[in-house]
Amino acid sequence: MRLIHTAAEIEAFVQETKTAGRTIAFVPTMGALHEGHLTLVDLARQKADVVVVSVFVNPKQFGANEDFDKYPRTLNEDAKLLETKNVDALFAPSVEEIYPPEGVREQRAGVVGSTFEGASRPGHFDGVLTVVGRLFDLVQPDVAVFGAKDAQQLFMIKKLAGALYKDTEIVTAPTHREPSGLAMSSRNRYLTESQKTSATALYKALKTLRQPLSLTIEAARTLIDSTPETKLDYIAVVDPEIFRPVNDDFRGKALAIVAAKVGDTRLIDNLEIELTEPNR
Ligand code: PAF
Repeated sequence: MRLIHTAAEIEAFVQETKTAGRTIAFVPTMGALHEGHLTLVDLARQKADVVVVSVFVNPKQFGANEDFDKYPRTLNEDAKLLETKNVDALFAPSVEEIYPPEGVREQRAGVVGSTFEGASRPGHFDGVLTVVGRLFDLVQPDVAVFGAKDAQQLFMIKKLAGALYKDTEIVTAPTHREPSGLAMSSRNRYLTESQKTSATALYKALKTLRQPLSLTIEAARTLIDSTPETKLDYIAVVDPEIFRPVNDDFRGKALAIVAAKVGDTRLIDNLEIELTEPNR
């Protein structure tokens, strides 16, 4: 596995790969890799000749009071894990390589970017899209793999790729869960054992949602709010095509989304659900 730290080196690697007629599958991450990330890498391996993984904790997607400074940075362990998956290149740039003084193309997340995660974390999605755009410009992937857990992020990255990176196929990797149902996340490292138990309330609550949503969402809110150390931010059901809330009349495939703080740790989760007539 090549360990690459600079923009110039990754550009040379990409050039070399493309000249040899080989395709690239890319897995962008912020490191602190867990089993869930490795399933993204496995999927990437099936999709192209060469797999590139990036590890970059992107300052632009963290708010002033968020966990940028304490976000786990475990590059040596990450590299060892990626070696076991025969990753071809690990791109681990510095902030200066990603955001050089001459500037990069800034992306704007628009209206959907200011709802749900974006409402609680203003500017977050502008930062995510800007770094994903910058990474795509450097890596020029044929395929890029993202986890389904970050549903709103995925929705917006698909829009970005549809508008500006039409040659890059966006592939979704299903959410990887602990046996308890807790969605795997790098931030689970912050949780104590009792908080891990509390955190399972998010998935449990998502599984209760059905029509009439006005009633089941209320019950799900109560379930989360009555869980120790847990404070709900939002729970909602959206139309996955437009990422806007649906009402009691909606029938068909929908996406249930939730965010809550468990202790000081903000967690998100989601579940695809099929909304049918309510049982009488
Ligand atoms: O999902 C993540 O880990 C990050 O938001 C991403 C896509 C790597 C951009 O920093």
